[in-house]
Order: sequence, then structure tokens, then C-alpha cells
Amino acid sequence: MKRILTGIQPTGVLHLGNYFGAMRPAIALQEEGEAFYFIADYHALTTVQDPARLREYSRGVALDFLACGLDPARVCFFLQSDVPQVTELAWVLSTVTPMGLLERAHSYKDKVAHGVTASHGLFAYPVLMAADILLYDSDVVPVGKDQKQHLEITRDLAVKFNEIYGETFKMPAPRIQETTAVVPGLDGQKMSKSYGNTIEIFAEEKTMRKKIMGLVTDSTPVESPKDPADSTILALYRLVASPEDTARMEDEFRTGGVGYGDFKQRLFGALWEYFAPMRARRAEILAEKSYLDDVLAHGARQARASASHVMGRVRKAVGFKASI
Ligand code: TYM
Repeated sequence: MKRILTGIQPTGVLHLGNYFGAMRPAIALQEEGEAFYFIADYHALTTVQDPARLREYSRGVALDFLACGLDPARVCFFLQSDVPQVTELAWVLSTVTPMGLLERAHSYKDKVAHGVTASHGLFAYPVLMAADILLYDSDVVPVGKDQKQHLEITRDLAVKFNEIYGETFKMPAPRIQETTAVVPGLDGQKMSKSYGNTIEIFAEEKTMRKKIMGLVTDSTPVESPKDPADSTILALYRLVASPEDTARMEDEFRTGGVGYGDFKQRLFGALWEYFAPMRARRAEILAEKSYLDDVLAHGARQARASASHVMGRVRKAVGFKASI
């Protein structure tokens, strides 16, 4: 049976990039194999160093992922820090990680350029991510395009370890959907917390409308034709509208006569409707007092059992006792 795994950092409130890039594909894949989805709170320590906020964001990610359709009866859903074996594996992997591999990591350079402190944790981030993936014998990892290089590093480390110590790790592959590989934000760049251009999945109606109305466009007048090719409005609309509605908006772009304001209203309406059932499910979960904690506690037990199995293999391979 195929193992599917993905993680999301609790560094803020989840946005449309997270949803379309990783959560929706992960939720679709939960039917197809054994899924392990987790909240990457060890990773989040590289940017969130406030315990109250970390707890709040972690619960928020858990709530939102479940509201969007993650089925805990099918998926092992857990907090990364509930399985500390992953840090042991990260250490072992770090001893076979060439410095040059990490020095070439785009994500590290990008985060430092955006003001994140260049700590050792941030530098070694891809090693911990490799440990996440290899610890569960993952086959398929649904992610957005920004994680592609991290998957390449993971595969490099698995090959390297297997060469030194014998066949120990399975070779994972990313699953990046072309249509949602890079979801644009309000300014047309990749939607990202660190760029301040996000639209949150469960934003209040007024907030979401205001954000969409503020989406950056060129200054083509209402009557003139507009270019559908690199429009952020259309890029987001395609994600939620039917093919017929999308085709209609594309035609209206080409013909002219409709202003960006109208297109934005339509985009807001489509997004609001798309997430309506998930908002309802979210309210239900919130009303069930211990539901979140129960799901995560159950997931943690399952994940620890699976992790011990692979960690036993690793410990034996390097010359430690298989278990302690
Ligand atoms: P994170 O928390 O930044 O993002 C979670 C997921 O959302 C995707 N994503 C996007 N996809 C398309 N367009 C966007 N604008 C966009 N913004 C975010 C990301 O690609 C990601 O799939 N390092 C990971 C977390 C992680 C992980 C793992 C993932 C830790 N260990 C093991 C997979 C497997 C991260 O920072 O994602």
C-alpha cells in the first residue's frame, strides 16, 4: 500500500496557497493509500518563538485541515513534536549531509533575505524535513513547487545513507500538481506569509472581500480588452469556478466592457461559496470539545509506532542497539 505524507508549518493562519497547493491534493490522496499528515511544529520554531502563538497556530492548522476534509479515520494526523524520534533521525542524516547541499537551498536564502534570523535550525531545516519523510517510509509527498528542492535533498540523503549503510530507506517522490504548483497572492507573487500577500481560507466575510477587492491589477479601463494570460483574478477564479464560468470570464476579459471590480466581486462570490461547507464543518468541530485533542492523541500513538519501526532499522544499520 502506498504511503502518502505531508506537513504544514504552524507559522500563521492557513491560506489559499496552502489549501490548493498541498491540502486539497493531500485530502484527495487520503483515499488512495496510508496517509500521514502532520503539523510541523519543530520546523516552526525556526520562525515562531512565542509559545502561546505556537500553540494557537498549531491548533488552528489542525482545525482548518480537518474542516477542509482531512478524515482522521483514514489519515494518521499528528503533531510533529509528538514523535521526537524524528529529531534523532535528523541527527543521523545530518552526518551524511554534505554542507554544499544545504548551502544551495533556495528556501534558506529566501527566508534570510526576508528577515528570518539565520540560525543553525533554519540552515538544517531540509535535514529535518528529510527525516520527516524517510521516517514513515513515504512514497508520495503532495506539496507546492516551493518544496521541490527539499524533496530533491531528501532523495539525495536517502541515496547517500543507503550507499554507506545498505538499503534502509524507501525513495520518496513529490507530487506537485501543475495547476496549483504556485498559487499567486494579492500582488501576483507566490502567496506566502512572508510576502504579506495572503488570503486566509477561513477569513471573515468582510476581510476576505476587502482583500480580494484590493488585489493588484493593471490600469486597463473598463471598456478595453484585458489580458487573461497573467491575471491573478483569473488564476484564483480557475481554482474554484466551473469550466463554463471560467470560460465566460476569460471571454469577457478578451472582449472588454467589464471592469476589474466586477471580476473581483465574482471571484469573491465563488471563493466564499466554495468554502461554505468547510466553514460549516469547522463550526461543528469547534463545538465538539475534545475532538481536536482526541484526533491528535490518536494520531501521535499511531505515528510513534510507525516511527519506532523505521528507527529500529536505522539504528541497527549504523551500529546502535535497535531499540532502547
Ligand atoms: P509550508 O508550511 O510553508 O506550506 C505548506 C504547504 O503549502 C504549500 N504552499 C503553496 N503551494 C502553492 N502555492 C503557494 N502559494 C503555496 N504556499 C504554500 C507548500 O508548498 C507546502 O506544501 N517545509 C514545509 C513543511 C514540511 C513538510 C515536511 C512538507 C515540513 N516537513 C515533510 C512535506 C513533507 C513548509 O514549510 O511548508
